[in-house]
Amino acid sequence: IGEEIPYPYEVIQESAEYLLSGTRHRPKIGVICGSGLGGLADQLDERDVFPYESIPNFPVSTVVGHAGRMVIGLLSGVPVMCMQGRFHAYEGYPLWKCAMPVRVMKLMGVEQIIVTNAAGGLNPGFKVGDIMIIKDHINMQGFAGDSPLRGRNDERFGPRFPAMNNAYDKNLRDMAKKIVADMNLSDVVQEGVYVMLGGPTYETVAELKLLRVVGVDAVGMSTVPEVVVARHCGMKVFAFSLITNQCIMQYDTDATANHEEVIEVADKRKKDLQELACRLIVKMAVV
Ligand code: HPA
Repeated sequence: IGEEIPYPYEVIQESAEYLLSGTRHRPKIGVICGSGLGGLADQLDERDVFPYESIPNFPVSTVVGHAGRMVIGLLSGVPVMCMQGRFHAYEGYPLWKCAMPVRVMKLMGVEQIIVTNAAGGLNPGFKVGDIMIIKDHINMQGFAGDSPLRGRNDERFGPRFPAMNNAYDKNLRDMAKKIVADMNLSDVVQEGVYVMLGGPTYETVAELKLLRVVGVDAVGMSTVPEVVVARHCGMKVFAFSLITNQCIMQYDTDATANHEEVIEVADKRKKDLQELACRLIVKMAVV
């Protein structure tokens, strides 16, 4: 009990070496599959599958019935590694532990990462089922004094004070916009600002009003720790949210945000999301 200390470089290296010794693939692209994108990992050819509990030093998953595994294989011939299931702060992990797999990817040679999540739509122009390309984030935990980078900095990963403007690569966002146009999905694709709250509660009306005032378009409970750690170690980041519900901003309604709705919407859009990710990965591999 007490505050956990982030893993030193050598511990991350042990996890990376274990995975490298268990696969002949050498991925330079990583994917963190949020709700709706888990199926992408099942599409990989010649895949090697590592349940999280088999990987040295990996966090132990607490969510029952949730796939928790690293899948490494080929997508349209491109080597990728996919996290099928992620670690959330509300499960009890410190932020550095939520993001620890990103450092493992880094030490395995990953240079670009795609991060996805399910989120509530706060922008009144967003509809359920929309895909929001993340342009920027608000790191609420950072405001409150917590960060996955809190503690001693190891320069082998990155600098003490990493910049966070340009966190979401402009080039990758432009590529994704071209792809969704080709897929005739432009009218369901948005771009905006994501905020991570700790959860597991959904938001009160007053909280949502606050977030809207400060420019938030979508609200979720993940992604920011992974992106902060990925940028710290110099990875290029692309991220998107699937808008699974509209945030409820009125007091006099019986409607509530609920996990069932999130899962249902994710299921309906999963083909489109997988196709977008797949086409983007093919383009990312040639730049
Ligand atoms: N709020 C926070 N996280 C979420 C939501 C939401 O409305 N929908 C899906 N994840």
